[in-house]
Amino acid sequence: MACYLCFSKPVLLFSALVLWAFSTLLEAQDPSQLSSDYYLKTCPIAEQIVRKQMEYAVQADPRNAAAILRLHFHDCFVQGCDGSVLLDDTVTLIGEKKAEQNVKSLKGFDIVDKIKTNLEAGCPGIVTCADLLAIAARDAVVLLGGPYWDVPVGRKDSKTASLDQANTDIPTPQQGLVTIISKFLAKGLSATDMVALAGAHTIGVSRCASFRDRIYGDFELTAKDEASSLPYLSKLKEDCPLDGGDDNVSPMDHFTPNLFDNAFFETLLKGTGLLNSDQEMYSSLVGFETSSLVEKYWADPVAFFNQFSDSMVKMGNITNPEGGEVRKNCRFVNT
Ligand code: HEM
Repeated sequence: MACYLCFSKPVLLFSALVLWAFSTLLEAQDPSQLSSDYYLKTCPIAEQIVRKQMEYAVQADPRNAAAILRLHFHDCFVQGCDGSVLLDDTVTLIGEKKAEQNVKSLKGFDIVDKIKTNLEAGCPGIVTCADLLAIAARDAVVLLGGPYWDVPVGRKDSKTASLDQANTDIPTPQQGLVTIISKFLAKGLSATDMVALAGAHTIGVSRCASFRDRIYGDFELTAKDEASSLPYLSKLKEDCPLDGGDDNVSPMDHFTPNLFDNAFFETLLKGTGLLNSDQEMYSSLVGFETSSLVEKYWADPVAFFNQFSDSMVKMGNITNPEGGEVRKNCRFVNT
């Protein structure tokens, strides 16, 4: 008599291998598989939920918009946009929150938690933290007056994080233009993407520790209109002394700090960019291409908005080829 439940060991092993290969294929991420209507049937209210929570957060404090936008950037530059930046340290996992550019600096994790709680209440187990962040970053920009773009979704949440990659791949304000461009190129992003995306510094603030080198360095040399730039420099030095005050903050676009516009590029044209890395895009001797882009985005806000939207989609398409899961809690991998 045939025994349908009786398999030999090699057959079982083979079946297990096929199943494993199949599930890996299913999990693997291909950016071309992202689409704006990924949650259309499974969670049509996903975008609405994210938007509402972002409205509350930005109304409470416009800085929250900047925090979320930066989180998405730091997520995408490490293993792809896979929510790895959101993971807390545990006994079995070392997260990215203690990386040089993240520690004492990344904010907005509580906002992500709130959005996730609401998503889980509306559509349990459907929307990933990586997608949540990509949608929330777009909403952050829109809520402060910036451009709208459709966000392709369908990313998976990673089961791992990489502190090492966070330390090596995220650009720092002390790095030169060539290094920063090469870090973007390594992620498939061009110099044009870099200049447009750095336009995100039209909102949010920097800590004194990140711009001290600049204000006690070549600020006076690059600043053009002395009548307005020297009082600004004195104020910066007051807020950011040579010694101490590391966590004191100043806006990177001192003209319109809570508006997503193109005024950030004006700070560079005037030679008063707050971060070394930002001013380099305009003032570096090797910045032929980047300085003309800075001029273009200052002269033509529509060109800036269009390029920023395109570059955000491009950055958001950096996926983690390992695939992953839909985390229940953005801070921890599922058990
Ligand atoms: C081009 C290379 C970049 C460098 C070197 C850089 C560096 C920095 C630094 C040093 C700060 C201040 C952090 C602190 O002092 O705590 C900052 C803030 C910020 N960055 Fe960047 N960044 C870059 C590109 C980007 C990109 C591509 C985005 C987003 C698309 C972005 C979005 C932001 C935002 C919104 C803030 C303000 C955050 C807040 O107020 O909490 N940055 N960045």
